[in-house]
Amino acid sequence: MKRINLRNSNKLYKKALKIIPYGAQTYSKGVKAFSDGVSPKFLAKGLGCEVWDVDGNKYIDFVMGNQPLILGYADPDVNKAVNKQLALGSTFSVANKLEIDVAELLVKHIPGAEGARFGKNGADATTIAVRLARAITKRDHLAFCGYHGWHDWFVGTTDLNGGVPKFNEELAHSFPYNDIENLEKIFKKYKNKISCVIMEPITVSGPKSGINGSTQWSDFDKKKNFLVDVKSLCKKNGALLVFDEVVTGFRYDIGGAQKMFGITPDLGCFAKAMSNGIPVSAITGKKEYMKYLETTFFSFTYGGDCIGLAAAKATINKIEKKNVIDHLYKAGSKLKKGMNELIKIYDLEEMLECSGYPCRSVMTIKKFGKYKKPLITKSLIQQELMFREVLWSQYHSISYSHKNSHIDKSLNAFEAAFKKLKKIVKNNNSIENNLLGKPCETVFTRVADFQSVATSQRK
Ligand SMILES: Cc1ncc(COP(=O)(O)O)c(C=O)c1O
Repeated sequence: MKRINLRNSNKLYKKALKIIPYGAQTYSKGVKAFSDGVSPKFLAKGLGCEVWDVDGNKYIDFVMGNQPLILGYADPDVNKAVNKQLALGSTFSVANKLEIDVAELLVKHIPGAEGARFGKNGADATTIAVRLARAITKRDHLAFCGYHGWHDWFVGTTDLNGGVPKFNEELAHSFPYNDIENLEKIFKKYKNKISCVIMEPITVSGPKSGINGSTQWSDFDKKKNFLVDVKSLCKKNGALLVFDEVVTGFRYDIGGAQKMFGITPDLGCFAKAMSNGIPVSAITGKKEYMKYLETTFFSFTYGGDCIGLAAAKATINKIEKKNVIDHLYKAGSKLKKGMNELIKIYDLEEMLECSGYPCRSVMTIKKFGKYKKPLITKSLIQQELMFREVLWSQYHSISYSHKNSHIDKSLNAFEAAFKKLKKIVKNNNSIENNLLGKPCETVFTRVADFQSVATSQRK
């Protein structure tokens, strides 16, 4: 197996570190997520689902810019729309019609969208959603489930909370997905204080549903499921329900998880796949709540930036016209099925599983025997995939550009990685000793508020 040349990547990284703390702008695009020594640190170009690093190595990409590239890099239709808009101007002194065009598209596709306002990052949308809920209910506390971005209200609950005033942590209470009892406890403990529940409507698992509590989409019971229970708890307690659809929107369904499951939240947050990697985000919601945006502060210079909006218009139209979601499920199912078959063949089922919805599946890595560090196992798989020209960071962000040939080639690479892992495990050898780079690290761990609720209940 040839070890790829990363000379230019490493040279640039050294240069960057002198003036750019951490050497990257996003934690999950730096050395914490990509094993230092075996992974490229700088990419130079992308086309479809393939990328080239600064040393000329080419990879099939499953990270896709941290998930937004639903159509693929340099999509011709998005590029055409963006170039056209660039020639007309990008940011204006008053509003532009594109704001209406994209708001109309959101209203058309998203069941809970009776209006929209735009931001740039996903965190802009989740942050204004929380502020809006607080303004409307005149309550400060909130319950949340999932990751929601870098702003104070969320980061205050993590162990990476330097510089965030302590009160943020005291106001935000996390609950585990599919655990309705835990959310009930939060509502009980902070009676009449919870402004909203903000949550990712799908994590790796889907909502528990039916009598058996299945999390499989095929068993989904529209009337009896976790999300229905969350919605009725919110209603009962006078709190707003906010779906953070930054990942699920335009990927799991063109109308988001709310359309897929038939459960309409009060507010919705969208970003990522909405504009194929050109920054724009949106808050959507019911008219009666959205009207409060006239008096709740959400205003910044690039709020109506036309480049992001032109990209969003082209992306959403293409997702609809080309039935992109159907492709994501088909290509993603081929990958997921193929991977789980290989895991079975190499007898690694106790250690690995490809889980989640096919449009964005995840490799679940479990502790097994003496192999107690999933990040070390991840680093080995990543290393072996990198050497076989697959850029991977544990999840599979399928795009319209991932065709059968890319999936087949990737499955060959996964097979080689699993074969190597199996050999190590079978011989009771150390995975660490087989790593040629530095192991991946976690970015942060969450302060598990649901544990503190449980503990305080016991006291
Ligand atoms: C579910 C979810 N919400 C919010 C965000 C924040 O989005 P951004 O990083 O664009 O601010 C992310 C980012 O990964 C996310 O996955």
